[in-house]
Amino acid sequence: MVNTKVNLCSLELENPVIPASGTFGFGYEFAQLYDINCLGTFSFKGTTREPRFGNPTPRIAECEAGLINSVGLQNPGVDSVIEDELPKLRECFHKPVMANVSGFSVEDYVYTCAKLDKIEQIGWLEVNVSCPNVHGGGMSFGTSPQSAAEVTRAVKAVTEKPVIVKLSPNVTDIASIAKACEEAGADGISLINTLLGMRIDLKTKKPVIANKMGGFSGPAIKPVALRMVYQVFEAVDIPIVGMGGASSAEDVIEFMLAGATAVEVGAANLVDPFACKKIIEDLPAVMEKYSINNLREIIGGAH
Ligand code: FUM
Repeated sequence: MVNTKVNLCSLELENPVIPASGTFGFGYEFAQLYDINCLGTFSFKGTTREPRFGNPTPRIAECEAGLINSVGLQNPGVDSVIEDELPKLRECFHKPVMANVSGFSVEDYVYTCAKLDKIEQIGWLEVNVSCPNVHGGGMSFGTSPQSAAEVTRAVKAVTEKPVIVKLSPNVTDIASIAKACEEAGADGISLINTLLGMRIDLKTKKPVIANKMGGFSGPAIKPVALRMVYQVFEAVDIPIVGMGGASSAEDVIEFMLAGATAVEVGAANLVDPFACKKIIEDLPAVMEKYSINNLREIIGGAH
């Protein structure tokens, strides 16, 4: 009997598989398809201080081995998440959930995190300083060590919950940003968010996405994500949640060998809503195939 349990910032997960924010709604939508309690946890849709309608459409462009999205942080705002979404989730998911938080100023992050800090159902705050689809916030906080550290420090001052800072790959030195977040008090790092990309329609000769550019995700970005997880593992001593193109139990193991304690699965949920369930079911047999008895023991094994 293999052991799939991992420990993420003092909270135990039955397995390391976590649907990524923006690909799993607020969870209860997927609970209509299967019992989502099989998941380690999941990260809910990026939540902001105020409700957001999101970007103009088209927001999605298909690509070889992936897709570009420019959703623009559409969400009902933190008050509605607390009053409407989380009670629905509570009916069908009986584990701590990860709250993904975005903002347009340090005050926004603080406001939203302080509200979510009071909610028992929330196990971790995933502070997203890496959304490439909004102006004046999001990714701009995650592209310098100083601003990423400033958000981290400010959020840590208003919460008792573990703070996991979600980083952008659209930088030259991700390790220095991860290190700055760790020094500012981050309890964990998650990476990578999407890579800024675009497509052009040959008929209209214009960008496919209304916002021109968006975040590229899917299997094509996995080697970049693995490289960055590997680099960050060498730079910090806090747990890493790896993501970027993972879509199989083999991918989960690969990310853990690079240094991830847990692995978020994103674009794969948009291709197959049962993707995470299948990965979790496949994990024990794939562990046996590669003579792995205990997943905890392989974290960072490639170093
Ligand atoms: O546009 C979006 O809502 C995406 C968010 C993100 O990538 O963090």
